[in-house]
Amino acid sequence: MTSITIIDRSGGERSISAKDGVSLMENIRDAGFDELLALCGGCMSCATCHVFVDDAFVDRLLPMSEDENDLLDSSDARKPNSRLSCQISVSPGLDGLRATIAPED
Ligand code: FES
Repeated sequence: MTSITIIDRSGGERSISAKDGVSLMENIRDAGFDELLALCGGCMSCATCHVFVDDAFVDRLLPMSEDENDLLDSSDARKPNSRLSCQISVSPGLDGLRATIAPED
């Protein structure tokens, strides 16, 4: 289990014990954050799992694929620390990560 803090759209935050080897998207959803729609279920075709990753952790994540980059470009809310949470696999190296659910497009 890896401790991750999720910040919702109203600014409320909660730490979750995330399952390693499972995507951040699934962990957020399983923790009951229903604002993260994740409509495509993680097959990278919706961008409704968009999160902002704490700057301190951006470089600890695997680089994004071209497809993830293209999909994020479709979001008006994109920032330098934007990622699709379905493309982040939780691992112990991410302990302490903070992720903010991006505004709805
Ligand atoms: S869940 Fe659809 S792109 Fe991540």
